[in-house]
Amino acid sequence: MRVIDSIDELKTTVRLLKNEGKTIGLIPTMGYLHEGHISLVKASRHNNDITIMSIFVNPAQFGPNEDFEKYPRDVAGDSRKADEAGVDILFIPSVNEMYPDSYSTYIEVLGITDRLCGKSRQGHFKGVCTVVLKLFNIVEPDRAYFGQKDAQQAAVIKKMVKDLNSTVWITVCPIVRESDGLAMSSRNVYLNKEERKAALVLSKSLMEAVDLTANGEADCERLRDRLISIIGGEKLADIDYVEILDAETLEFKEILKGRMLVAVAVRFGKTRLIDNVVVEVN
Ligand code: PAJ
Repeated sequence: MRVIDSIDELKTTVRLLKNEGKTIGLIPTMGYLHEGHISLVKASRHNNDITIMSIFVNPAQFGPNEDFEKYPRDVAGDSRKADEAGVDILFIPSVNEMYPDSYSTYIEVLGITDRLCGKSRQGHFKGVCTVVLKLFNIVEPDRAYFGQKDAQQAAVIKKMVKDLNSTVWITVCPIVRESDGLAMSSRNVYLNKEERKAALVLSKSLMEAVDLTANGEADCERLRDRLISIIGGEKLADIDYVEILDAETLEFKEILKGRMLVAVAVRFGKTRLIDNVVVEVN
């Protein structure tokens, strides 16, 4: 595996590979790799000759009171994991490489960013879209891989790609969970023992949503209230949002129909976790 920290060097390397006719898969990450990230590597390796992973804790997507400074970082461990997983090129740029002092251009997707995480984390998706488009322009991959764990992020990136006529093909991979159901996340490391146990209420509430909708529940408000009461029953859980929306358009619906996204964001102590499930309502 080659580790590159310069944009120019990565561009030159990619150009040579493309001249050889190689297809390229890109996996943008912020590092502190876990099996969720590795599942994206597997998907990319399956469909591309070359897999490039980026690790960049992107300051532009963190709010002033968020965890940019203390976001977990482990370059040595990540390099080993990426190498073992079969990543061909690991791109680890510095903040200055991505955002030099003169930097002043940002990408904003309107509409679907005004709800869920976009509402709780103002400016978050502006930072995400900006860095992802920069990575697309640097690598010009054939395909890029994202996780359903960040369902709104995947929807926003698909919208950006469509609106801006990008030719990058976006693949969204399923959520990878711990054996007890907790969705894998780099932020799980922040949880103490009690919070880690309490956080299981997320997957438990989502499983209840699957059961209820399978048994005919189609009333958004009633389902939402039920989930709020399950999560609210866990005393360490502080709900940010519980929403049920159209899985494709992220539009709110009073009566659930078709593929619906059940998305939750909940704080356990200082740690904000998100999780979701897609249910099919007939
Ligand atoms: P990060 O949180 O590191 O996640 C990188 C990619 O891994 C995202 O596409 C995310 O959805 C996916 N992922 C995370 N946990 C997962 C899980 N349990 N199962 C499956 N996939 C999972 O998301 C970001 O970084 C950043 O916002 C980024 C897109 C890199 C832009 O900075």
